[in-house]
Amino acid sequence: MPYLIVLFASIHFTNAQELKSPNGDLTMHFELLENGTPTYKLAYKNKEVIKTSHLGLELKDDEKSLLNDFKITNTETATFNESWTPVWGEVKTIQNHYNELAVTLTQNETERVVIVRFRLFDEGLGFRYEFPEQKNLVYFTIKEERTQFAMTGDHTAFWIPGDYDTQEYDYTESKLSEIRGYSEGAVTANLSQTSFSPTGVQTALIMKTDDGLYINLHEAALINYSCMHLNLDDKNMVFESWLTPDANGDKGYIQAPATSPWRTIMVSDDARDILASKMTYNLNEPCAIEDTSWIKPVKYVGVWWEMITGKATWNYTDDLPSVQLGITDYSKVSPNKTHAPNTENVKKYIDFAAKNGFDAVLVEGWNEGWEDWFGHSKDYVFDFVTAYPDFDVEGIHAYAKSKGVEMMMHHETSASVRNYERHMDEAYKFMNDNGYKSVKSGYVGDILPRGENHYDQWIVNHYQYAIEKAAKYKIMVNAHEAVRPTGIARTYPNLIGNESARGTEYQAFGGSKPNHVTILPFTRLIGGPMDYTPGIFEMDISKFSPNNTSHVNSTIANQLALYVTMYSPLQMAADFPEHYEQFMDAFQFIKDVAMDWDESIYLEAEPGYYITVARKEKDSSNWFIGNVNGYTTRTSKISLDFLDKGKKYEAIIYADAKDADYKTNPQAYKITKQKVTNKTKLSQVSVPGGGYAISIMEIK
Ligand code: NOJ
Ligand code: CA
Repeated sequence: MPYLIVLFASIHFTNAQELKSPNGDLTMHFELLENGTPTYKLAYKNKEVIKTSHLGLELKDDEKSLLNDFKITNTETATFNESWTPVWGEVKTIQNHYNELAVTLTQNETERVVIVRFRLFDEGLGFRYEFPEQKNLVYFTIKEERTQFAMTGDHTAFWIPGDYDTQEYDYTESKLSEIRGYSEGAVTANLSQTSFSPTGVQTALIMKTDDGLYINLHEAALINYSCMHLNLDDKNMVFESWLTPDANGDKGYIQAPATSPWRTIMVSDDARDILASKMTYNLNEPCAIEDTSWIKPVKYVGVWWEMITGKATWNYTDDLPSVQLGITDYSKVSPNKTHAPNTENVKKYIDFAAKNGFDAVLVEGWNEGWEDWFGHSKDYVFDFVTAYPDFDVEGIHAYAKSKGVEMMMHHETSASVRNYERHMDEAYKFMNDNGYKSVKSGYVGDILPRGENHYDQWIVNHYQYAIEKAAKYKIMVNAHEAVRPTGIARTYPNLIGNESARGTEYQAFGGSKPNHVTILPFTRLIGGPMDYTPGIFEMDISKFSPNNTSHVNSTIANQLALYVTMYSPLQMAADFPEHYEQFMDAFQFIKDVAMDWDESIYLEAEPGYYITVARKEKDSSNWFIGNVNGYTTRTSKISLDFLDKGKKYEAIIYADAKDADYKTNPQAYKITKQKVTNKTKLSQVSVPGGGYAISIMEIK
């Protein structure tokens, strides 16, 4: 039973307030400074984590900002404890337990009212600004949010630069004081943002202090507001919120009543707690979709890696670089030999999916418009309903249906957002008519209308619009290049995936760091699942795409482990059928691995170095374990004490071979079988860029 108890509402307000987490480990102090500036600080097990930090917003033009001159006019505390059942997830039920403090602040001069609401969980703090309905504060424009996160020292951070348009970076591990040095060097060259701060970083940011505390900064429920980056004052080690500007340079248009997203600070002395935390989801609103029976995990293959690696093309023809939709008749031009999304090839993928138990087949490059899809600021680019002549929509639908496989739609918008909204209803209706239940959307290139950034308030509203409209058509969404998630999938569980980070595609664009996948669960995955598209078995891309010398920096065992370590209800097997056919014994794991879970237990974790997790399949007694490893060979020692007492199981262990290595010998793996019980202890060696995957099935 959920319960909410208002414990205390007082009329005598002291300028300092204290809040404790349910287990007492975290203490948050709120204090109003003498000039009326609101501040907070946070301690974990009596150790300072966040030093006194200012709260407030700077408003545009001559408006008096919401930074100081406040008095406290009310405070309320409450405690809340409920459990809820996610539609899909890492666990069957989620506990939402926090203590709350809401401080009402009234500005002396203007009599404007802002409430700062704090929720303190065992794993961290969430707080937001609330602008209640009032006479003196109705419409305002944010110049900058001035929320501080004052660090206690020069922590180690895993960070990507504060770009307004992309988050597809490898992470840099450095001291906070070194961010400037890195940024002014190599990193800046890639930045696509219009203005740049050498100490700007994106969230979710994971840090480690010298005395072993893990701190994660992010946000929850990013709705009708611009995405928050963090800017570091590296003299004082104080981060400050840095919102994404829109085409006018403004950072948000607010009409009261309104709330900001939650600013989140997770902290623990055990890195596993950060991975297991459900705080970000808990700070979002409950599910808004009444009937969720159509929302289901999806395991899929696709006509995709062929184009990403350069072996094939999305374009139907290379002859017409500036085609105008509606003018060019594609049936009069002959297709490229390399146009992979053709009916015959798609049928091969459907056969492969049916034979191996996959739910769906994604096809990219099926629709008109790819000849000049980005780089030209072309407004009316795709219509999302007109197929190229070699892609038989109805025939493919019928064929897939006969094989028990679904087709997955692809909507590349090339960031022409106006055009996507113009076509959205028709495009979703087309999906309904042709049996498509999920869509992968994409936002490559500069945003149209011009000048908007990928993470500003205007486009955040578009991403949300697309999700909510899709829900009306019972369509699941997997948006690439959209803003990174902030737990919105609790409210809209049809958002089954996002890319919004550096995915597997970069293994074909020069490669990613071998420890990338030991960081993503601490950063990008905090807000929601990622369509990482693992399962690459052929690491030497030049073997089939001679002009591409990229190398996939991962072993096969590491690729298998990703299906468990990178939690997602959407999982792709991204490599070609013929590559899987060479390694059918290893491919078996991808076929077997579950997609939805009753329980998840993080066994080992250190950002940048390793993650090991065990998960129990939903409504089953099967378990799956994944371990991913960073740059150095490591022995992972785990106990299977989570298995049911008295039951016997068979474990199949897919591990790196002794001489495996992500660079020199990535395809060397060893598969062993052994009987296990809850008394079994395992010791596995993972090589650089390696790992292991284990399936554990009950012997009945
Ligand atoms: C970038 C996406 O991340 C990738 O998956 C897709 O294939 C291309 N855009 C083309 O839409
Ligand atoms: Ca991408």
